[in-house]
Amino acid sequence: MKIGRNSPCWCLSGKKYKQCHEAFDNKLNSLYNQGYEVPDHDLIKVPVEVESIKKSAKINMAALDAVAEKICEGMTTQEIDDIVSDVTTKMGGICAPLNYDGFPKSVCTSVNEQVCHGIPGEDVVLKSGDIINVDCSTILDGYFSDSSRMFLIGDVSEEKKRLVKVAKECCDIGLKEVKPWEPIGNVGAAIKEYAHDNGYTIVREIGGHGVGLEFHEDPWVSYVSNRGEGMIMVPGMMFTIEPMVNMGKHTIKTDPINGWEVSTLDGKPSAQWEYQILVTEDGYELISW
Ligand code: MF3
Ligand code: CO
Repeated sequence: MKIGRNSPCWCLSGKKYKQCHEAFDNKLNSLYNQGYEVPDHDLIKVPVEVESIKKSAKINMAALDAVAEKICEGMTTQEIDDIVSDVTTKMGGICAPLNYDGFPKSVCTSVNEQVCHGIPGEDVVLKSGDIINVDCSTILDGYFSDSSRMFLIGDVSEEKKRLVKVAKECCDIGLKEVKPWEPIGNVGAAIKEYAHDNGYTIVREIGGHGVGLEFHEDPWVSYVSNRGEGMIMVPGMMFTIEPMVNMGKHTIKTDPINGWEVSTLDGKPSAQWEYQILVTEDGYELISW
């Protein structure tokens, strides 16, 4: 797309293109010509969009805070769904999972060997020793936020506690690799290395994703990538860091009956945290966590 140098910039800053994103676009074009994968403009969030996404994230985090306050042994995952749904709707938001591709509930609750996309229900009662991921995704005024946390129920074994801790550290280590003009593969490479060093594996088939204007945007983010691979991260891009860390083998299976719930093939526990991040001029900004 050609844009006049004196025309208003596509980022809606009100500045002239030549004083705003012209140099940025030149850099993108040059990287593209060198064979790198680069984002389209529609993956670059402009400041007004970032502000709206942050409002969505406020609800997203409030819902998880409410879960954190109430979650306990004996609670059903349906009650977690109710908490997330209540907080979200009271704050004016919509739970993104509900009816997404036919998903039947408002949040994903994945217990122990469940890797992701666990379906809340009255029949799933949390017991002492369980670990659970609560993955919350929110829409406000059409803007999306997505983050997830792990919770320990009652008396959890040291080995499961360590898995949960390392899964969190994986996100933090990935976060440190978020730098503008570097390939996104660096994020997954650091995460993979850290997980492996700790004796764990990372799920390969399911990864993270761009997010903000849609629930799932490009790029797809692998956490078993190599340095130098993948799309170049540029300021304004927004994506999730959400590696699924397995205590045993990386292999997974999907429940053939409901078509959603993903579990480890070997039945060993899995843990996942999820951050939504914005790439900035000098690194990153956490949007939801
Ligand atoms: N929050 C999940 C993610 O990170 C979305 C799962 S889709 C759902 O991509 F329908 F299961 F909610
Ligand atoms: Co996500």
